[in-house]
Amino acid sequence: MLTPAEHLVITLDGPAGAGKSTVAKSLAGRLGITYLDTGAMYRALTLKALRLKMDLSDEEALTALARNTKITFKETADGSLDITLDGEDVAKAIRTPEVTNNTFYVAKTAGVRTLMVAWQRALGENRSLVTDGRDQGTVVFKDARYKFYVDCDVEERVQRRYKELAAVGKPVDLDQLRADMKDRDQKDFTRSVGPLKKAKDAITVDSTGLTVEGTVDKIMKLIHL
Ligand code: C5P
Repeated sequence: MLTPAEHLVITLDGPAGAGKSTVAKSLAGRLGITYLDTGAMYRALTLKALRLKMDLSDEEALTALARNTKITFKETADGSLDITLDGEDVAKAIRTPEVTNNTFYVAKTAGVRTLMVAWQRALGENRSLVTDGRDQGTVVFKDARYKFYVDCDVEERVQRRYKELAAVGKPVDLDQLRADMKDRDQKDFTRSVGPLKKAKDAITVDSTGLTVEGTVDKIMKLIHL
């Protein structure tokens, strides 16, 4: 068990495609602590709702679904947590454009967010974490020792996502991708519960024009352990 002084939580919030998750994973690796991908949790519940062909606008049903769902993580050799949905490894299944474009329903549902927040806090209770998402510094880990807001120019975010998808053999229409990204930004910034915003005590790190490791270097310079 870690002492409170050793217990380190670092939050990375920011818009989609700003490189948060790769940066967070690399940062956690350099510090030798666990990486928690909270977006994966919203994606996993969305995947389940889509598979069940649920009415995604029914917030009560989505909250009930979340209550009856077990989202857990398996610790991997590299220190990250691999997501499981009711015991199934869904790491790949949650990355489809269909899931990405429908997470918004689950993410705006207050009852779902309450459960997600509690699960995330429980995960950070007795382990040090680098956690990335939208509300990690503002809601979930308000007392985190370090909070970062990772930003990036929208056009660069679009280009990065385009290359990522092309690299795994999933080319998409660039204009469509740009429209989807702007739409997701708009929804993340404006939802009434857990919207994306910079915590007052967060440090902004602009990753525009930087590589992943360049961004991690920038953050490492700001962390004093
Ligand atoms: O980070 P990622 O793109 O995987 O997140 C998927 C979706 O989950 C986001 O569009 C956002 O709406 C939602 N999300 C959230 N709160 C978090 C993490 C992700 O609402 N802490």
